Amino acid sequence: MPSPKILVLPGSLRTGSHNVRLAALATKELALLDIDVTRISLADYPLPLYDADLDARTGQPDNAVKLKQMISAHHGIFIASPEYSASVTPLLKNAIDWVSRVREKGDPTYAAFKNRVFAIGSASTSATGGLRSLMALRQILELGCGAMVVPEQVAIPDAERAFDDMDNLVEMRLANLLRAELARLVDMARLMM
Ligand SMILES: Cc1cc2nc3c(=O)[nH]c(=O)nc-3n(C[C@H](O)[C@H](O)[C@H](O)COP(=O)(O)O)c2cc1C
Repeated sequence: MPSPKILVLPGSLRTGSHNVRLAALATKELALLDIDVTRISLADYPLPLYDADLDARTGQPDNAVKLKQMISAHHGIFIASPEYSASVTPLLKNAIDWVSRVREKGDPTYAAFKNRVFAIGSASTSATGGLRSLMALRQILELGCGAMVVPEQVAIPDAERAFDDMDNLVEMRLANLLRAELARLVDMARLMM
């Protein structure tokens, strides 16, 4: 059976980021399922803070178009989203805002978010594991951008102790939740092929 293409995208650039670790683990789990998976960093798509005047004057920056094209080239997207002030990081929100504005020839509105499926996860040093970031991100993607987001999600609490030396999750319950979520993402992504 041909593999859907899955993109993995962490919402942090921090050295030692727990969400980059979560993204790396999701990438490994998908690769073990023989899925065609690509992990990117938003460091490779630097963008100015969204400015509607700039957008109107010069259009979207090349990196917004490139990121939109990268997302559009995949059937499923897993986002590892840190929690800042009970929401998503400005880095992630800014990237989503710019990408949401990109319309290439013949594109519908919010083109990057249509005809593909999203799954979301978070890791935080707090006891709630970034759960509120997931609530905010689900709202942004579903209500803001019209995206389909799978109902499963995983929030990894106490992130400094959650991963072992091999970057696997210590707690089997969380590892199984991630696997179940990724399995659903793959199943739904197949429907988008
Ligand atoms: C400005 C700021 C705000 C934060 N607010 C929250 C928060 O509201 N809830 C929470 O669980 N963690 C919060 N944190 C902790 C981060 O979620 C935690 O440091 C996490 O590891 C960051 O993700 P990263 O490791 O992928 O960079 C905050 C951190 C920063 C820097």
